[in-house]
Amino acid sequence: MIPLRTVQTAGGEVTVLLRRADRAVGYVKDGVLQTLIDAAGRNLAPHVTAAVDVLLQEKVRQALVLGHGGGAASTMLHRAGVDVFAVDSDPCAKPLAQLFFRAPPCLDVIVSDAAAYVELAAAASFDGVLIDFQDSIETPRAYLSPSFWRDVARVLRPRGMVVINVTSWLHGGCAWRTFQGALGLGGFDAVALSEEYGAGNRILVTARGATAP
Ligand SMILES: C[S@@+](CC[C@H](N)C(=O)[O-])C[C@H]1O[C@@H](n2cnc3c(N)ncnc32)[C@H](O)[C@@H]1O
Repeated sequence: MIPLRTVQTAGGEVTVLLRRADRAVGYVKDGVLQTLIDAAGRNLAPHVTAAVDVLLQEKVRQALVLGHGGGAASTMLHRAGVDVFAVDSDPCAKPLAQLFFRAPPCLDVIVSDAAAYVELAAAASFDGVLIDFQDSIETPRAYLSPSFWRDVARVLRPRGMVVINVTSWLHGGCAWRTFQGALGLGGFDAVALSEEYGAGNRILVTARGATAP
């Protein structure tokens, strides 16, 4: 691996690495791979492709992406004509995605904590939300909080769709039941969980239940 750039952020150390063998480029935070593209700029993470495909099948026009990283999902959605608003707590995410991952400069990437962003975002702003901000073994606190999911439900339009990247840490860990409970209390009840993709990630597709506030 050839390190191309290293940035220290409040959330950890972000490194962009070039894989010698095939020239794939990875966005790595504190040793954990967040985004991987090939030499032609194509996403190499099958769960990210699957999540984007669901949003495109649902004909999403305005998408919120919580967790931009190297911007693979945001870039694919943007290229398909979707208006994308991405959020990442690390200020380096947007410039690194642009420089090394071919993210278009016009992508809106807001530097914010994801939960703080949805708490203040206008109601019914998006018809699709991709939740992808688990960047380590630790489950983000927001994932376990009904109030975070209520905020996500609030920013979603009535027939909107939420797709969550479920890591193997989350699915196989002790927080899994708490996560499912928080999602339900937040107003999401129609849930479909995929099989595992390559590195153990699954995608969970859900929408606001009939009883959502
Ligand atoms: C798995 S990566 C996202 C990958 C991206 N969706 C893609 O398709 O390339 C997770 C990202 O979430 C960000 N993140 C972690 N905690 C966050 C938080 N509380 N709020 C916003 N972003 C956060 C990390 O900085 C990291 O860039």
